[in-house]
Amino acid sequence: MEKLLDVRELRVRFGAYEAVHGISFAVGKGETLGLVGESGSGKSASSLALMGLLPATAAVSGVLRLGEQDVLALGEEERRRLRGRRVAMIFQEPMTALNPVMPIGRQIAEAVLAHEPHIARARLKQRVLEALHEVALPQPERRYHDYPHQFSGGQRQRIVIAMALINRPELVIADEPTTALDVTVQKQILALLRRLRTERGMAMIFISHDLAVVGEVADRIAVMRQGQIVECGPMRQILLEPQHTYTKQLLAAAPTMHTDRDHALETGQGA
Ligand SMILES: Nc1ncnc2c1ncn2[C@@H]1O[C@H](COP(=O)(O)OP(=O)(O)O)[C@@H](O)[C@H]1O
Ligand SMILES: [Mg+2]
Repeated sequence: MEKLLDVRELRVRFGAYEAVHGISFAVGKGETLGLVGESGSGKSASSLALMGLLPATAAVSGVLRLGEQDVLALGEEERRRLRGRRVAMIFQEPMTALNPVMPIGRQIAEAVLAHEPHIARARLKQRVLEALHEVALPQPERRYHDYPHQFSGGQRQRIVIAMALINRPELVIADEPTTALDVTVQKQILALLRRLRTERGMAMIFISHDLAVVGEVADRIAVMRQGQIVECGPMRQILLEPQHTYTKQLLAAAPTMHTDRDHALETGQGA
C-alpha cells in the first residue's frame, strides 16, 4: 500500500489538558480509514490538527506527512492552499459549513475561486453544476440560486460534499458526516461517499462514534479511546475478532451492528 498520509506521535494540547496523546497511523492512497471512539476521545481534535483548523490556543506536535509534504512545517498560506485543494473536510452539521446568506451555487463557486482565481465564469458555473450533479442533488440548474435553508438536511450534506470535493482533493476527512441525519438519509449519504471515493480513487478518514456506521465504509479501522488508539486493523478483523475490551464494548453498543455488519460483509463494502 502506497502511503498518502503518515501520522506519527500526533499530540494535541489545550493548555494543560492533553486531548490526543501521541497517536500514529497511516492512510494509503485510495484507502478509507475509519476512526471510531466515544465522544470526547479526541477524534475531532486529531482531524482538525491535520487540517490546521484548531484554535491558536491548541498546541500540536508530532509529524504529519502528506505525500512528500511535512504539513506541520508549512506556513499558514501554504496550509491554506493545502486545504480544499489536497485535503478537504466534511463536518457533522452541514448548516455550520454553509453560509446561510449566500446562494449555494455561489458558495461552491467560491471554493473553486479560492484555488483558481482566474477561471472563466462560464467554466466555473459549469464546474459547480457538474459537482452538484455528481452528488445527485435534484435539479441543480433550477436550485443554483437557492439558499441553504431551502434544502433538507440530506440535501445540505450533499451540497457540502460537492463543495468539499470540487477541487478533487486526494484525502477527505469526514467527521461524523451522517450523525445529524435520520437513518434513511444516513444510508444514502454513506452510499454517496462510497461511490465518490471509488469513482475518484480518493482516500478518506471517516470518523464516527458509531462502529456500525464506520464498518460500512472503512477498509481499516482505528479505535480511539481517551486520546489514544487502542486497536487498529482491517475492518473485518475489528468487527469479527476485536482484541481490545473497549472495541468489544463499542461493538455491543452499536445498535444497528448486526444487520449492518452482515450487509457490509456480504457485499464486500469497505473491503
Ligand atoms: N477548543 C478546545 N479547547 C479545549 N478543549 C477542547 C477543545 N476542543 C476539544 N477539547 C477537548 O478535547 C477532548 C477531545 O475532544 P474531541 O476531539 O472533540 O472529541 P471527539 O471528536 O472524539 O468527540 C475533549 O475532552 C474536549 O473537551
Ligand atoms: Mg468530534
